[in-house]
Amino acid sequence: MRYGIFGDVHGNLEGLEAVLEALAGERIGQYLCTGDIVGYGADPNACCERVREIGAITLFGNHDQACLGMVDLNWFNHVARAAAQWTARRLDPRHREWLATLPPTRRIHDFMTVHSSLPDPWRWIYVTTPAVAAETLQACSDQVVFIGHTHLAEAYRQEDDAVQKVSLRGGGTFTIAAGCRYVVNAGSCGQPRDGNPAAAYAVYDTDLCQVVVKRVSYDVQQAADKILQAGLPEFLARRLLVGR
Ligand SMILES: [Fe+2]
Repeated sequence: MRYGIFGDVHGNLEGLEAVLEALAGERIGQYLCTGDIVGYGADPNACCERVREIGAITLFGNHDQACLGMVDLNWFNHVARAAAQWTARRLDPRHREWLATLPPTRRIHDFMTVHSSLPDPWRWIYVTTPAVAAETLQACSDQVVFIGHTHLAEAYRQEDDAVQKVSLRGGGTFTIAAGCRYVVNAGSCGQPRDGNPAAAYAVYDTDLCQVVVKRVSYDVQQAADKILQAGLPEFLARRLLVGR
């Protein structure tokens, strides 16, 4: 099976469409969205619509939770809070209901997926170090765990007890090696933060035991303009242009 994996869409329809167009040529058997479909961007409803349309297995992210009013927004910085409130006011009841059904973690085929990290997906801990990646691996028995949340395209490879971080900022291909375990973050499709504004996604081929992480350029300016026109914080438009 070939899985098309993307996440942290954050209401960015231009980023999402570019990723889906790229994945359309990849003989994908199943799409997986690792969460945060909404929050930040100007097109929350259209993004929900597209993710549902392609039948993606979809995880629940912390911004999805925030936009449903299920979390105290005082935990968010003022920009994220303003965006969550803006999104909450505009979310179609249909998509609101759908988002509320999503799980933060799910086991698929022979791998694990979680928006944030394990053992407690509801704490929304960021996997940014080998130590946190090791905790996630320790909390499950699967060889591969796909995550989102940090908006950074990177992987963590555990061999024996040592965990090493591999940056996938410009993309990359690696084989899932016997005896090793992996935490893989495909990066963000709608708000990359690794200094590369191109939308990120991954293809996981379970027959070839191969993961390919790719980047695709899209009309970042248009997505940024929509954010400004919507009256969302200007910072959200600026960060798209630089990928930070
Ligand atoms: Fe996110």
